[in-house]
Amino acid sequence: MINIALDGPSGAGKSTLAKALAAKLGYIYTDTGAMYRTIGLAVKRADISLEYKDAIIALLPAIKISLRFENGEQKIYLGEEDVGGLIRTNEISSYASKVSAIPEVRTHLLDLQRDIAAKNNVIMDGRDIGTVILPNADVKFFVTVSDKERARRRYKELIAKGENTTEEEVYEMMKARDLQDSTRAVAPAIPAADAISLDNSGDFDEVIAKALSIIEEKTKG
Ligand code: DC
Repeated sequence: MINIALDGPSGAGKSTLAKALAAKLGYIYTDTGAMYRTIGLAVKRADISLEYKDAIIALLPAIKISLRFENGEQKIYLGEEDVGGLIRTNEISSYASKVSAIPEVRTHLLDLQRDIAAKNNVIMDGRDIGTVILPNADVKFFVTVSDKERARRRYKELIAKGENTTEEEVYEMMKARDLQDSTRAVAPAIPAADAISLDNSGDFDEVIAKALSIIEEKTKG
């Protein structure tokens, strides 16, 4: 199976890039951030304060996450509920970032992520795919975009979903989340030593073409 890791900070456009690459290559796309967000949602619903790590850990066995393909689209389920429409709010972003720093939460998702990669040609989008989840991935990308541009993109996404926020607020929350994600003790969001840096600030088609040529080069033969 061919495994491509696509890591990088929030708002770098990883999911758009990964979806486009997966469609071009006929691979599946896996959004691991959605898994952390779903755990965040479950913790919020259980009314557990983010300070109570033990309670969060105790809840994990009851959190059943699965990815399902329906009408060519990937859906994320918490138990039997499609939660895709509920997990992309500022509030759940904060929950996801906090729960993702708990080692047991990461372990809870590790098998699911590795299992998908073992059974499929996949482009997996996340923070620690190249460093921890798939250290032997065929290609590892680390996507970058300027901070202001990332905040602008995320702001537009949130507004389109009807969320009430400002670009400044999104920028501040994004920077706080980046700091939390990149300085945590387990699986910090940093590039793998052998990751290829992919600047996603410019023309989308050019970025796709560059990524495709790297993938082709690395996976030929
Ligand atoms: O990619 P995203 O913004 O949907 O991710 C939500 C949060 O989950 C983010 O704060 C970092 C965390 N995350 C992680 O720790 N490891 C991953 N592989 C993916 C996401």
